[in-house]
Amino acid sequence: MNIREATIDDQLGMQNCNLHNLPENYTMRYYFYHALTWPQLSYVAEDDKGRVVGYILAKMEEEPADGIPHGHVTSISVMRSHRRLGLAKKLMEQSQTAMRDVYGGKFVSLHVRCTNRTAINLYRDTLGFTVHETEKGYYADGEDALGMRLNL
Ligand code: ACO
Repeated sequence: MNIREATIDDQLGMQNCNLHNLPENYTMRYYFYHALTWPQLSYVAEDDKGRVVGYILAKMEEEPADGIPHGHVTSISVMRSHRRLGLAKKLMEQSQTAMRDVYGGKFVSLHVRCTNRTAINLYRDTLGFTVHETEKGYYADGEDALGMRLNL
């Protein structure tokens, strides 16, 4: 398994992975916007045939309310066939390092469904995120989000 910075050519593979794994989906324009604006922040995991089996789509917050530069994880997922191999942890860590070293990010934020125990374990137990706030009805189906943060 290889983890590397995502390129423009990966955007379809990332979208395919996202469609398989999450109900929150994005336009191709939004993938390109990430890749063109913050090329160091999004990564893919590829199998030995070069297929995208995991990705992280991330950005810097463009107009942070508190004025503190920080990164934001828009989306991360790993194909079922490749889970529990440490890929998500590595994808998160690569992106977090670039947020800090390339863009001077002071912390990283993300939203996660409050029922998504697997992802919450990843963020809280493995990576050290804490819950910053709960956002009521954040998702399209009305589920609440946990807003989580990790200092970089
Ligand atoms: N049950 C409990 N904890 C788990 C599980 C599981 N099935 N899978 C991962 N974890 C937690 C553990 O703490 C694990 O550490 P450990 O193996 O030392 O116990 C830690 O996550 C790291 O595991 P990885 O192997 O790196 O995680 P993986 O590559 O399997 O990907 C992910 C985790 C991305 C959450 C995957 O399950 C997935 O794609 N789920 C569906 C999509 C999703 O929910 N994405 C996150 C939405 S929120 C957002 O995008 C900002």
